[in-house]
Amino acid sequence: MQAAVFDLDGVVTDTAKFHFQAWSKLAKEEFNLDLPASFETNLKGISRTESLEAILKFGDLLDKYSKEEVQNLANKKNDYYVEAISKLTKEDILPGITKLLTDLKANGVKLAVASASKNAPFILEKLGLAHVFDAVADPAKVNAGKPAPDIFLAGAKAVGVAPNQCVGVEDAIAGVSAIKAADMVAVAVGDKDELRQADCVVPTTRNFTYQLFSDVFDRYHK
Ligand code: BG6
Ligand code: MG
Repeated sequence: MQAAVFDLDGVVTDTAKFHFQAWSKLAKEEFNLDLPASFETNLKGISRTESLEAILKFGDLLDKYSKEEVQNLANKKNDYYVEAISKLTKEDILPGITKLLTDLKANGVKLAVASASKNAPFILEKLGLAHVFDAVADPAKVNAGKPAPDIFLAGAKAVGVAPNQCVGVEDAIAGVSAIKAADMVAVAVGDKDELRQADCVVPTTRNFTYQLFSDVFDRYHK
């Protein structure tokens, strides 16, 4: 294992809940639509615009808004979201992550971020982790979002490591598909059945250790 390529939201910090809260608020205010809790999974890993399209589709509203209106609605959601993530501090790093990053680094493993979020650099700054990662792939510069492999491939490239020497880390179904499509070993956190495409799924980030990553990589890499 020469590099670990991390998703950010829901893996390094629990921002997945803030995304869903912001979307729920927007959906209620703008469309008088209640998003069921089960909808959160559908929005993980996909871009801001794709998330809004999924919500509009759910409310049977897809044809009712112009491109410009969709853009304005997406901006509004982002304002709600940015308000929430502005309060993040290093206390919001998920359990086990700081030690995992330290141990990976100590073992010469490069660290990259492969998030669909345009807010990733801001969040890393807030968490005090901006200097810890060797590279942050820019989602605005890749052709296709998750489940396509592009953002994970960009993360590997940015740290100069071949994809088959990387472990990808995810909490989203679309993200695990992206890791596997990139020919990386996939470690996931969350529901074992939902994320069954991963090589290893653990219930919480507390279970993430250097040893686990190393063992899973040795067992499954191509
Ligand atoms: C991903 C989240 O990390 O980033 C998605 O899992 C989100 O839920 C996507 O839609 C885009 O984020 P942002 O911050 O650019 O709106
Ligand atoms: Mg995620």
